[in-house]
Amino acid sequence: MNDSIQRYNKVAIILHLVVGVLIFAMLGLGWYMSELPKDLPKVPSIDLFNLGLYSLQFSEPMSPRSFYFNLHKSLGVTVLALILLRLFWRLTHEAPDFPATMQAWEQKLADVTHKALYLMMLAVPATGAVMAAFSKYGIVWFGVRLVEGLNNEGLREAFKEAHEVAASVLVALIVLHVVAAIKHKVVDKDDVLQRMSLR
Ligand code: HEM
Repeated sequence: MNDSIQRYNKVAIILHLVVGVLIFAMLGLGWYMSELPKDLPKVPSIDLFNLGLYSLQFSEPMSPRSFYFNLHKSLGVTVLALILLRLFWRLTHEAPDFPATMQAWEQKLADVTHKALYLMMLAVPATGAVMAAFSKYGIVWFGVRLVEGLNNEGLREAFKEAHEVAASVLVALIVLHVVAAIKHKVVDKDDVLQRMSLR
């Protein structure tokens, strides 16, 4: 491997990996749980995602929908904190320059996409948290109550809409980001992927 290339620093690389994996998990979990029926009975344990791999025992019976919603909110608050840390790290540490082989328009598009990704990575969990705060349940982070529910159905509904639209925009940006990464590897054959990889 070429050691002379300019890389992102280790913390930036690890945060990129961890936040990326968690966002994929959160998108999947969000769509999965939204499809769960509201009238399922409370159960003493749950087979995680019905995969037959891991059965989770509850201390008291709970509906599967409540369980997955609470998991989504708890993980979501954690992801929001990690994204804020990632943004802070990005603003306080210089990113490597784009390779000189990239056209001016490609550099501009990459720059705009990266800024839009940061914006939507914040907007998605932020709208989710505000929606949850306006619901009657509030936010409980892995068993610790963070926010009491304000029980305002109109505002909950508005932020639910915003959360769904923001998640769809984030997905579109992620697709563009991944397609660009593949182009760098397959077409341009430059070292852009290596700059963000753990060796
Ligand atoms: C990066 C973080 C997050 C991602 C990627 C994400 C993604 C999603 C997605 C894809 C959905 C399904 C939307 C649909 O039905 O089209 C969803 C639903 C939901 N999210 Fe998030 N979310 C995130 C963070 C959060 C946070 C921080 C909270 C609250 C603390 C939250 C609360 C909810 C709730 C309550 C729903 C269900 C809405 C309903 O059907 O009533 N989300 N999320």
